Amino acid sequence: MAGFSDRARAIKPTGIRRMFDMAGDDAIQFGLGEPDFQPPSVAIDEFYNAMLNGHNKYTSTGGLPELRRRIAESWKHLEPGLDESSVCMTMSGTNALLDIFLAIVNPDDEVLIPEPYFPLYPPDVAICGGRAITYPCRFENAFVPDVGDLEALITDRTVAILYNFPSNPTGATVNTDQRDKLVAFAAKHDLWIVTDEVYDKIVYGGEHVSFLGAGYDRVIMLNSFSKTFAMTGWRIGYVLSPNSEAMQQVTKMQYYVTACSNDAMQYAVLAAMEQASDYPGKMRDEFQTRRDLICSRLNEMEGVSCHVPDGAFYVFPKIDVEGMTSEELAIEMLSEGVLCSPGSAFGEAGEGHLRFAYTISKPDIDRGMDRVAKVIERISGKRH
Ligand SMILES: Cc1ncc(COP(=O)(O)O)c(C=O)c1O
Repeated sequence: MAGFSDRARAIKPTGIRRMFDMAGDDAIQFGLGEPDFQPPSVAIDEFYNAMLNGHNKYTSTGGLPELRRRIAESWKHLEPGLDESSVCMTMSGTNALLDIFLAIVNPDDEVLIPEPYFPLYPPDVAICGGRAITYPCRFENAFVPDVGDLEALITDRTVAILYNFPSNPTGATVNTDQRDKLVAFAAKHDLWIVTDEVYDKIVYGGEHVSFLGAGYDRVIMLNSFSKTFAMTGWRIGYVLSPNSEAMQQVTKMQYYVTACSNDAMQYAVLAAMEQASDYPGKMRDEFQTRRDLICSRLNEMEGVSCHVPDGAFYVFPKIDVEGMTSEELAIEMLSEGVLCSPGSAFGEAGEGHLRFAYTISKPDIDRGMDRVAKVIERISGKRH
């Protein structure tokens, strides 16, 4: 009979998009995680020129060798052995994530996933037949996982652990000491580390701490140019690993998922890496001033507490509105013209939180926060 797979039916639409669909045109947009900048103009020019120059064909599955070499170079300070064979170009971080899970997950294998999580992680594990087992990243611990919690989740089916720093939705980062403990945990149990570092260029007040170069070679990184060069709509990213067998398997999966990445766009990204290397830093500096603004506005509100995160462009405040789910609270915010994401869109552990992406101007952040304050006052007034 012509039905649908259990897999497709079991996977729900994300709570982030649901809010987006409900929002009016005049809502202040803290909902979607995409930079409000144009990509570097050199990339746009090169994209056009590359198409004029005939780069409109399939590429090799791994992608343009010059670009892969350039990407490998950019991580060589951590892993000196990297070369073009350590990189496979993909059509986004989203594509990269699926390739990785397809390469390492067998039916019923368990993958440890942080919670709150980027909403694609559990469904992607399920698409590959595996089981996503979530581990807590608690507010009290600045959203950094505790190895004791991880140890309690290990079974003989655990094959991998995913780390995501800087994190979506929490903005959390790790220091080298915390990173080393998380690597040692994976090494002790012989797990793959899948490290999602798509926000590696958006780190405030210090160097990005990667899971590469920590003395463990079972590390597979997914990365993307969506956030680095404000190219979310271009859909281009990559997988990188010092483990050559992993790269062979991932690249093979990439062939069956999309055959290869976009030809002309790879020249555009190469131009951006070579000629606009100061672009991500400038964007980060702007995000930092917005982060400071939104955190101070939120922390002034009664019943709201917000970490000042060191990465990405999200805040994930805890909001004390007993008796109300985060979805109800997000809908209440919408009624006042503020679009944000309910914490529950990032797993049950996100209950009691909202996610705000500060990818809008400072005046808009201010106007939005006035409205948020009004909603919080109205709700707490009702309860007193
Ligand atoms: C943590 C994380 N990983 C991966 C992605 C995927 O990025 P893209 O598919 O745009 O490359 C995102 C996008 O928001 C993200 O937040």
